[in-house]
Amino acid sequence: MILVTGGTGYIGSHTCVALAKAGHELLILDNLCNSQADVVDRLETLCGKRPAFIQGDVRDSQLLGDLFDRHPISAVMHFAGLKAVGESVAKPLEYYDNNVHGTLQLLAAMRRAQVKTFVFSSSATVYGDPASVPIREDFPRSATNPYGRSKLIIEDILADLHRAEPDWRMARLRYFNPVGAHESGLIGEDPQGIPNNLMPFVAQVAVGKREFLNVWGNDYPTPDGTGIRDYIHVVDLAEGHVAALDYLKRKGGLLTVNLGTGRGYSVLDMVKAFEIASGRSIPYQIASRRAGDIAQCWADPSLAREMLNWKAERGLDQMCADVWRWQQGSRSAHP
Ligand code: NAD
Ligand code: WQD
Repeated sequence: MILVTGGTGYIGSHTCVALAKAGHELLILDNLCNSQADVVDRLETLCGKRPAFIQGDVRDSQLLGDLFDRHPISAVMHFAGLKAVGESVAKPLEYYDNNVHGTLQLLAAMRRAQVKTFVFSSSATVYGDPASVPIREDFPRSATNPYGRSKLIIEDILADLHRAEPDWRMARLRYFNPVGAHESGLIGEDPQGIPNNLMPFVAQVAVGKREFLNVWGNDYPTPDGTGIRDYIHVVDLAEGHVAALDYLKRKGGLLTVNLGTGRGYSVLDMVKAFEIASGRSIPYQIASRRAGDIAQCWADPSLAREMLNWKAERGLDQMCADVWRWQQGSRSAHP
């Protein structure tokens, strides 16, 4: 059985579907601070079996002890955490507590239970502003905000732990920009309030919930002047997790890999692709650069291919079509 923390969230829920498809039993732990309980019903439909679900917090060490005592957990996938860059600048203590302290509590509970297989959601944010693209795993790391720093700190904690206790099997998966939704339209990203990220914002403009998109800067040194990112379909990302777990079972060690496509698209490329997928026009206006943004960021995905025999398969058209299907059917509980 796999313990999936944050399993009702965006990436965690899609990974639950991929894990169930690969034959794994699931136990989800989520405090629902950024997701809804009815995701479990949707997962039951998609997985063909209802995953076990506990509403609770990864910082609750007594609860964790009970979970490991009561369930035959063989590995942990750790998605639970806070992820909004701007909010992390305003609330650093909350971010370090949730992300760093939460991970420490989880690792301590795992060690007590002698469960030593761990997959961690890291991020391309650990590369800061890269000196060049595509980005390889051996590029220098840096952080410019507490969210990114929490990822750096956790990556370092995992490396130290592995050095001290080499029987741990751990993966640090550095996601690029996850977008898209499950093709069923049953699960997807459901941000609270005004979306920070491009794709959910564009989808809300297309559906008429927002009037226009602000394009944060068109004076970057890129072909059309707007920022370039490596957008990866969340189902590809989910499958990367299953491949990483298989790898850890076979080989062990401490694995650090990029999960990206190796292709970059600009903000305006995304707008155009979404207009085609939705048949709607996406009005936008050019605004000044967003603080902390970088010009371009895309992965060298070759290590993941080599180590995990995994690569992203789904293209931009599918990412947009799946978000559009989700957005139209979405029963968003959030205003
Ligand atoms: P999400 O907010 O949709 O999912 C996170 C889930 O964790 C939510 O369901 C939330 O309720 C839960 N959670 C938060 N704190 C918790 C706690 N203390 N105890 C229990 N549950 C808790 O986010 P996501 O996009 O699915 O991200 C998952 C992970 O991937 C996060 O660690 C995030 O930092 C990382 N990541 C995300 C992106 C991205 O762009 N979405 C990119 C790189 C890395
Ligand atoms: C993409 C591009 C914006 C919104 C963030 C985190 C990163 C990772 C993924 C967790 C940029 C532009 C956006 C808008 C815009 N998360 N944009 N108007 O900034 O690459 O990465 O999410 O680990 O840590 O920093 O993603 O989707 O916010 O932006 O023009 O309303 O879209 O400037 O060029 P980003 P994003």
